[in-house]
Amino acid sequence: MSPSQDERGGGIVIAIDGPSGSGKSSTSRGVARRLGLRYLDTGAQYRALTWWMLEHGVETTDADAVAAASLLPQLASATDPDGYGITVDGRVLVDEIRSAEVDAAVSKVAGVHAVRTRLIEAQRECVRSAVAEGPGIVVEGRDIAEVVWPIAPTKVYLTADQAVRAARREAEHAGAGRGREAAVTLAELARRDAEDAKTTRPLDAAPGAVVVDGTHLTLDEVVEEIVGLAKGR
Ligand code: DC
Repeated sequence: MSPSQDERGGGIVIAIDGPSGSGKSSTSRGVARRLGLRYLDTGAQYRALTWWMLEHGVETTDADAVAAASLLPQLASATDPDGYGITVDGRVLVDEIRSAEVDAAVSKVAGVHAVRTRLIEAQRECVRSAVAEGPGIVVEGRDIAEVVWPIAPTKVYLTADQAVRAARREAEHAGAGRGREAAVTLAELARRDAEDAKTTRPLDAAPGAVVVDGTHLTLDEVVEEIVGLAKGR
């Protein structure tokens, strides 16, 4: 169920949306640490469900098959910004959800209505408990400010030039021992942007969101800017 205005409570909710490679995860964890908040990576949930489907031989391009399997795995998201991780049927997943196979399949899985219904409700429950227990949570994804928690007092759309986003993704891949040509990463990023745009609006800011362009900023500068927004500076 969508959150009502009564659910604003005393907790802080910071919604950070943005496309692939915009630096959302590092930024969101940094903001959560600075403000002593919890942290939820919603992309990791879509990735974990996709990983499970691939492991169980579900044809991820078949929307009916994905919908039929969407409720089967048990998912639990950790919300500690220093101990982030997602558990699927009791198994903690870290690098598995960042594989090339998951990268290639996740947009299609995330486009299936039953998947979104399940995960959006789980995300709202997570925000509800963080707000109820205080002090609050940073939630990152694609549709947080517009769909998951439209009453978030702080909404940020984090972006960067596509070439810069591709370079950051490339650095992550190289760090994980999966280095490849920059042009391949750029093409893959453009494909993901286009595929994600069928479901969410990865290249547009939600109404009421402040646009933060990280193209020429360091991670610390982006974190500082968002902390300032949350504090009303
Ligand atoms: O941010 P990411 O690359 O980890 O996201 C993985 C995929 O999940 C991406 O293709 C878009 C999708 N996603 C989504 O549809 N809605 C969200 N709130 C978060 C991610």
